[in-house]
Order: sequence, then structure tokens, then C-alpha cells
Amino acid sequence: MTASIESLLMRHEARRLQPLPLPEPVPAESLPTPALVVDRPAMERNLKRMADHLTSHRTGLRAHAKMHKCPVVAHRQLELGAIGICCAKVSEAEVMRAAGIEQILITSPVSSPDKMARVAQLAAQSADVRIVVDDLTMAQQLDAAAREAGTTVRVLVDLDPRMGRTGIARGEPALNLVRGIDQCPNLHFTGLQQYAGHLMHIADAGERRRKALETAAAGIETRDLIIADGHPVDIFTGGGTGTFDIDSEVPEITDIQAGSYVFMDEEYAAIGQGNRPRFEFFEPALFVLVSAISQPKRGMITVDGGFKSFASDSVAPVSRDLPDVRFRFGGDEHGILLLGEEAPEIHLGDRLWMVAPHCDPTINLHDWICPVEADGLVHELWPVSARGCSW
Ligand SMILES: Cc1ncc(COP(=O)(O)O)c(C=O)c1O
Repeated sequence: MTASIESLLMRHEARRLQPLPLPEPVPAESLPTPALVVDRPAMERNLKRMADHLTSHRTGLRAHAKMHKCPVVAHRQLELGAIGICCAKVSEAEVMRAAGIEQILITSPVSSPDKMARVAQLAAQSADVRIVVDDLTMAQQLDAAAREAGTTVRVLVDLDPRMGRTGIARGEPALNLVRGIDQCPNLHFTGLQQYAGHLMHIADAGERRRKALETAAAGIETRDLIIADGHPVDIFTGGGTGTFDIDSEVPEITDIQAGSYVFMDEEYAAIGQGNRPRFEFFEPALFVLVSAISQPKRGMITVDGGFKSFASDSVAPVSRDLPDVRFRFGGDEHGILLLGEEAPEIHLGDRLWMVAPHCDPTINLHDWICPVEADGLVHELWPVSARGCSW
């Protein structure tokens, strides 16, 4: 088989997978800015809260590693009982596999021979690698790739929860796909994925709950149809941070694919949860530390982080500590803090902690995560090993 550009890229890039210890610990405030900083104790609390909640509800966690792209965090999730991780892309999965992780579900279908060959390679390395499929022709091509690699690929059928992104329609179309997969000797059907991303950020917690339960029920109907046709459905996976507490009440859902809960972000914090106006069960643990660098006008001050340090598709970064300060993007490398009447004085050189607006794409802008331990010091750096792995 001819080597694809993708495989060449993967082979020639030496990606660091382990933490990088610092010669001596440094205070967070002395990091070069902009710096992607994690409040380690807050991260640990978030990890434990999710693990405890799901354990008490007898639901598994298949943590979505697309959020952090960092094997150090993935290993910690597995240590705390996650049954596996999810990856959005084959290249992400390859990085996680290289870091020694066996239990990987690729949550997006693939449609090219190159990617299918790489999925088959991953499956040949670990019996716990799985991928979703939502089309019979593509499934048959994956079967051929698996045959060529001399292996079996475990697949889940991706159900479209009427989000219109990926997945096959529930009911007969899904059942027919399962029947087709059954005819593929090198594929093994192991279950269903139904991820309702369009529900995750519904601000009204009651409406989110109602829609999530309706969606789960429709998916379970399809699951039952498939089981009645003689196909065991071992896995019924889906759900994210926004519905973790709802999906875990549904006994048929075997595991939740939450990602953002580890670090949280302002997009999630701003929605209601339970009977609270803000989502505070998990704490903000991810920040971009920026420095004030210029003050051309009174009432505002410019910091050294803009679109290349923060990714935001809806909300702006917010200050962790300072009241009456609003962030306005000032371009690729700059942000402008608008200082209201209640804002404290900020001086050039001051370091400011900004809560990440949207965690996944913000992390993908940085090479390193700087974890700040309980002593206020950074002892090591964590590589964002799958940074840029979007192919
Ligand atoms: C398929 C899939 N599962 C799970 C998640 C995790 O969602 P969250 O970060 O909201 O927990 C995502 C996020 O986009 C996703 O695409």
C-alpha cells in the first residue's frame, strides 16, 4: 500500500507523550505568557466528582480526549476508573495509542481508504479499539481494510439523534445497517453511539433534561429493535458534560462520553444546571494567563493574548478574579480589557487569569499545559500531544 501523506506526517513527527519535569518548580505568576494553565486541585476535584457520580449510578465513563488531547490527563482518567477514552479523529487515537492507551473509541466515521487502513492498524494493536460507522458502503470498505490488515475491527453504529451531523436515522435504517455489518466477516458489531451535541448547552436545565430523556428513549427503542433481531448490543454510549447527570439516570446507557467536565469553560459555566442558574457542579480549572502590556487609553488595558491564545465560538474569556472587567478580542495577539467603574487598577506587567471561553479549541492552540499544584507552583509541563491532530 502506498504511504499516505497522513501516515507520513504521523511517522515523522516525534510527539512528546510524557510530562516534562522542570529543573525547579516555578510560581504560576512567573510563567511566560500567554500560558495555558490548569488549576490542578480543581481538575482533581472535577475528575473525582464525575467518577463518584458515575460509580454511584453504575454508569461507565468513556472520557472524550478530544477536549484535552493530552495523554497525561487521559491516563489520570483511566486511573480513576474510566472504562476507556474517546477520540474524534484517527490521528488523535494514534497519539493516545502511542501513549499506551488500549481502550479507544473513535467517535466519528471515516470515509477514505487511508483512514480505514490506519483504523485497521490500530485495531490490530488493541482489541479495545472501536470506531463508529453510519453507512453500509463505508462499513464494507472498512471490512476490506480490516481483511487486508488481517484483523477484525469492532464497530458501533452511530445513531443520528436528529442533530444532523453524523449518524444513521434510528429505527429500520439503523437495523438494516447492523444486518449489513453482520455480513462483513472482518467487522464485529458491538453497540450503538448516540451523541446529542445539540442539547449539551441548552441554557434551561429543565428543557435540557426533557429533550435528553426523549432522545435517550428514542435511541433505546432502536437498541431494542436491534436486540430483538438477534444482535447483542453491549455498548450504548453517548452524552457529554451538559447531560451527564441526566444520561446517568438511564440504565440502558452504558457509558457517558463527557470531555469538558475536567476543565470546564465559560460556555458551560453560563448554562443552568439542576435548579441553579450556573453550571457549578464542576469548577473552572483551565485558564490562560496573560500579561498587561500596553495602555493607550484610560478605561482599558491591552493584554498579550488574542485569537491565537483563546478560541471562542460564542463567548469571550472572562477574568477569574477581577470584577467589572470585560474582555474584547483585539486581534490575533491582543486582547483588550474594558475596565468598568468597579474594576481594580491594573498595571503594565500585571498577570491576569482568564477563564477559557471554550476549552477544546483553546487547548488546541497551545503546545503545553502548565499545571499549578496546591503549593502554587508548576513542577512539570504536560504536552498537548495530539495538538493539531485534526486529520
Ligand atoms: C461525539 C462526542 N462525544 C462526547 C463529546 C463530549 O462533550 P462535552 O465536552 O460536552 O463533555 C463530544 C464533544 O463535542 C463529542 O463530539
